[in-house]
Amino acid sequence: MNIIFFLFLYIQMCFAFDIPQTCKTDLTIDKDHYNVTKTYNTGDAIPTDAHFDGKGNLFFVVFGRNFNGYYYDVKVIKRNSSEAETVPGLPERESYSIAVDKKESKVYFGTSKGIYAYNYESQEAILINKPDIQLNSLLVDKDGNKYITGRPDGFEQLYLLAGNEKIHYKGFDALDEVAVDDKNNFYYIREEKFFVLKSNLSHSVYIGNVSYEGLGQITFHQDNVFVASKTLSYIHKNDTGPMKRVSGTPEVTAIAFDRVGNFVLGTKGKLLKYEAKECYQRKN
Ligand SMILES: *[C@@H]1O[C@H](CO)[C@@H](O)[C@H](O)[C@H]1NC(C)=O
Ligand SMILES: *[C@@H]1O[C@H](CO)[C@@H](O)[C@H](O)[C@H]1NC(C)=O
Ligand SMILES: *[C@@H]1O[C@H](CO)[C@@H](O)[C@H](O)[C@H]1NC(C)=O
Ligand SMILES: *[C@@H]1O[C@H](CO)[C@@H](O)[C@H](O)[C@H]1NC(C)=O
Ligand SMILES: *[C@@H]1O[C@H](CO)[C@@H](O)[C@H](O)[C@H]1NC(C)=O
Repeated sequence: MNIIFFLFLYIQMCFAFDIPQTCKTDLTIDKDHYNVTKTYNTGDAIPTDAHFDGKGNLFFVVFGRNFNGYYYDVKVIKRNSSEAETVPGLPERESYSIAVDKKESKVYFGTSKGIYAYNYESQEAILINKPDIQLNSLLVDKDGNKYITGRPDGFEQLYLLAGNEKIHYKGFDALDEVAVDDKNNFYYIREEKFFVLKSNLSHSVYIGNVSYEGLGQITFHQDNVFVASKTLSYIHKNDTGPMKRVSGTPEVTAIAFDRVGNFVLGTKGKLLKYEAKECYQRKN
């Protein structure tokens, strides 16, 4: 190789690695840096319960209030779209919850009129089950079992659905938010305390305190469990606590990770998409 050419290449490489001295990003989780790359407006409504399906579509519930009172409606931002659309076929104002069955690649909606499934061909929701309970949220575990929460006695309780039967899950009374991970461990918030019921244990374990004001979401990414309820906090599943707090977020009400590890945060009036950024820091 010609020495001049070699020098030229060398200089090019130096330039390529001549990176900015300060790296500013919007937030940091452990050693990973993220910037907001997109904002989806939701008007006066607050996004809650956000979930990506396996295809990259983002489903979420919006909670709001207008002249008719409170409403919960399900929206979708389809992959490659920047507009949120209402999912057709669902009961208006009373569609509270979304669950993604990763095993079967299905999306379900929990509503006051029953459980609906998303039909990818017609792109609408279709009623599949009408449990005789006022349903507030819906979960699907790793084996595809469905769980609902409802409050027949005034306290939010958890039930496993088995066909048309519902089996009361004891120990979950008066819960505020609940989610199940890919090992069937249940994580839940009750009275601003965060607990886990591991699939192989018979009693819950207290993890830490979280803020909670009526809207929030628990989700999982790799070995971390995240709680978005006003503040954003997280903990490695093997850790015993306390929770770690992510700084630099607005007041959050929803969180969902996509397959590559980028995520959205819900806050009043919008969903913010955060993408991982390479951040080189020069040592002094
Ligand atoms: C992240 O966004 C900020 C502006 O909010 C910008 O100054 C910074 O350069 C971005 N960082 C990266 C690594 O893209
Ligand atoms: C969506 O975008 C990806 C790349 O970002 C592209 O490969 C794909 O073809 C697009 N899909 C549609 C339906 O436009
Ligand atoms: C439950 O499983 C975890 C690993 O997932 C293990 O560390 C723990 O010891 C198990 N506990 C019991 C009581 O078997
Ligand atoms: C959690 O909150 C309780 C009050 O509800 C308080 O007594 C306790 O010290 C808090 N624990 C931590 C680790 O902050
Ligand atoms: C967490 O615990 C599980 C089960 O005990 C173990 O297999 C895994 O290696 C642990 N992960 C870390 C990062 O410590």
